[in-house]
Amino acid sequence: MRIAALADLHFSPQSYDRIREPMNRIRDEADLLIVAGDITNLGKPEEMESMLASFMRLRIPIVAVLGNHDYEGGKQAELAKMMIAEGVKLLDGSGYERDGVGFAGTKGFLGGFGRGVLTAFGEPEVKAFVQSAIDETLKLERALSMLRTEKRIVVTHYAPIAETVRGEPEQIYPYLGSGRLSEVIDRHQAILAVHGHAHHGSLEGKTTGGVPVYNVAMHLLMARTPASPYRLFDI
Ligand SMILES: [Fe+2]
Ligand SMILES: [Fe+2]
Repeated sequence: MRIAALADLHFSPQSYDRIREPMNRIRDEADLLIVAGDITNLGKPEEMESMLASFMRLRIPIVAVLGNHDYEGGKQAELAKMMIAEGVKLLDGSGYERDGVGFAGTKGFLGGFGRGVLTAFGEPEVKAFVQSAIDETLKLERALSMLRTEKRIVVTHYAPIAETVRGEPEQIYPYLGSGRLSEVIDRHQAILAVHGHAHHGSLEGKTTGGVPVYNVAMHLLMARTPASPYRLFDI
């Protein structure tokens, strides 16, 4: 199976003009498309509508998670409904299997990596914040446990490792992902993980357990190859 993956479309009519052509090529190049969040720019239903119209033209299965920008308008439930109605496999602590490959996904959350992971101590606000990161981790755990396939791919919006956010200002690393996610990826021995969100991060890295992690933020991919806002994987 050949999989195309991308993230951070941040739909606006102007931004979409730049990628219309390469997006249409995905249909000929891939059997399935992964969209790792930030599909809309401000979480507006009209942004989602335009983006969905272009996804539907591809006529290949689409596996997606939402990103923080898709939450900005407070209409994430409506956006999710729109996607599901068009047949997009929207993963939110859930899995999807196709041709022997399993996909487990969730948005993920922030909170930092390694020794810098924020822990639930002190003020209730801090505890609530950390709980959100833990909840997303548990959702990913549940999604992975549900898959019966030997090959499992993890899709998140936030980064599971620090290596693929390298390139961003160090001061904002804790806002770009959560290392808690990578522990789950290792425990379930996923074959690879993709994420977005860190527009100026690095293309690839590995979890402690050696699982390859790819940052498929469109801006990052286009900085490398302007004509290819997506990355291809042969599974
Ligand atoms: Fe983004
Ligand atoms: Fe984001």
